[in-house]
Amino acid sequence: MCGIIGCVGRDERTVETLVHGLEKLEYRGYDSAGIGVVGDGLSVSKTAGEIEALSQKLSEQSLAGTVGIGHTRWSTHGPPTDENAHPHQDCTGRVAVVHNGIIENYQELREELTAAGHRFSSDTDTEVVPHLIEDALEAGAEPEAAFRSAIDRIDGSYAIGALIEGTEALFAARNDSPLVVGLGLDAEGDGSAELTGDGPYFIASDVPAFRDYTARVIYLEDGEFARLDGGVSVTDSDGIPVEKSVETITWDAEETGKSGYDHYMLKEIHEQPRALRQCLSGRIDELGGAVDIEEVGDLSPTGVQFVACGTSYHAGLYAAQLFNQAGVPAQAFLASEYASSPPPVGDDLVVGITQSGETADTLSALREAANRGAETLAVTNTVGSTAARECDHALYIRSGPEIGVAATKTFAGQLAALNLLSLATVEGGRSRRAVVPALRDLSGDIQHILDDSAASEVAEIYADSNAYFFIGRRYQFPVALEGALKLKEISYEHAEGFAAGELKHGPLALVTPNTPVFAIAIGDGDAARKTVGNIKEVEARGAPVVAVTDGRNDAAMYADYVLEVPETHPRAAALLANVQLQLLAYHIANDLGRPIDKPRNLAKSVTVE
Ligand code: M6R
Repeated sequence: MCGIIGCVGRDERTVETLVHGLEKLEYRGYDSAGIGVVGDGLSVSKTAGEIEALSQKLSEQSLAGTVGIGHTRWSTHGPPTDENAHPHQDCTGRVAVVHNGIIENYQELREELTAAGHRFSSDTDTEVVPHLIEDALEAGAEPEAAFRSAIDRIDGSYAIGALIEGTEALFAARNDSPLVVGLGLDAEGDGSAELTGDGPYFIASDVPAFRDYTARVIYLEDGEFARLDGGVSVTDSDGIPVEKSVETITWDAEETGKSGYDHYMLKEIHEQPRALRQCLSGRIDELGGAVDIEEVGDLSPTGVQFVACGTSYHAGLYAAQLFNQAGVPAQAFLASEYASSPPPVGDDLVVGITQSGETADTLSALREAANRGAETLAVTNTVGSTAARECDHALYIRSGPEIGVAATKTFAGQLAALNLLSLATVEGGRSRRAVVPALRDLSGDIQHILDDSAASEVAEIYADSNAYFFIGRRYQFPVALEGALKLKEISYEHAEGFAAGELKHGPLALVTPNTPVFAIAIGDGDAARKTVGNIKEVEARGAPVVAVTDGRNDAAMYADYVLEVPETHPRAAALLANVQLQLLAYHIANDLGRPIDKPRNLAKSVTVE
């Protein structure tokens, strides 16, 4: 969703650094952008639309300063207009504020401030903050105290960065919305509350915004404040200095580039072999079949609840099957509906699956689980994310940064990591011996698909269909749901996934010669045999069929086209079938000319409930 970048100590490169940071945050989804800098005075430039429009505007203005903030806005309060873009300012133009999150008591604050004579120029909740700071400054408060007093007045979720004219400092605070501080190479200190040196220093809602300049970060916690000037000081809500540990990001800045691919999504699909090798590295013993995940210690749950959203929820549906098959009752819940789930009992483990680690619905469900007394585990890609920090345990999927809004390699990483979790905690030697070699072979099997897939040809044939249906059973059912989600989010076409057996209970009425059905049929067992029966049902009604199959059943016989996957364990085959569907979605969206990495209305990290 919205993105924040701020910097101190970049001198004449301040504006360039802010714009570059905003470009690196584009993946989060946005509809307007802006920056503010403090130099001789405070100046702001902002606009509805893309960063290109902001750059155009900046080329006609002369903004300069040594301290700055920037923002990409994803509209919540008010449409995407120039006025609603951030930074927002007070009546005097001496204060500029960028904000991610939602200020819940903004209506009453706005009424109070309006009654006191403040003039508002936007529809946003954010604008109350600069006016509150203005009030405090006018009452005689020092800049930092004015900032703190404004934050004290607001309720809700926020990551906030603020500039105050006449002060070459950047003020920041967070509550329920991520904010990370970057420490430039010259910064000295090893985790004390006060880090000194020439910097430069940065704040951002996500590391890629400043990764080109530094790998050293400190993560702010809820309720903490940071002041960045000739150093960084972090304090709690009472102003008491907080000791922070300095962490080092292990991925390279280049990993956030496109490496010659037309889109991040395609690049990330192709990164899956490497992502999976990283996920499994040091965690499986390929010869003996042992699985050892240091992060989960000796967990031995008697039941598991998975909470997640979107693609991660599909990973949860898959994982629930792994645990159920091993005799440990497990269920997947949409995080936003977790409040109506049965409470966890005994030694139940509640697992939040979230690539970003910042999804508000998932965090809320995890907090609910903790309040209910459950032990919690985050399965996430993001080291230091809120989910990782708040849960009792964190299992990292190690996929590397994912920029495309459509989750691809992180879904593969989630399925692999959840296999490891199940093998390490509840599955015995026999399944380990069967599954570990299949997991080990995944990278090669996926590479084989990437090299030989017919998905682009199939996409070309069906790119102007009325709707697309995806069916699968057992482990392939979540993959059918995921195939449909991927296609709809990047192509804007109507796509639905169904349990193959459910088709005849209603959705079959939608099937026509212009609605291709993608059927995943793996192996030669009961599930595949029944799916082949379902293929015959749709074929009899004139629908084109594309079989995603390993050829060990009759699916290909009744299909118009085949997307092949190598033979493997059905658990691993789910990841392979998914790669074919990712490629299919990508090529259909590309043929339709959609903006694949930045689909309309969507955000990479959804930080509101
Ligand atoms: O960061 P998370 O895994 O918690 O995100 C959950 C969903 O918002 C996410 O999977 C979304 O559905 C993706 N855009 C799917 O491609």
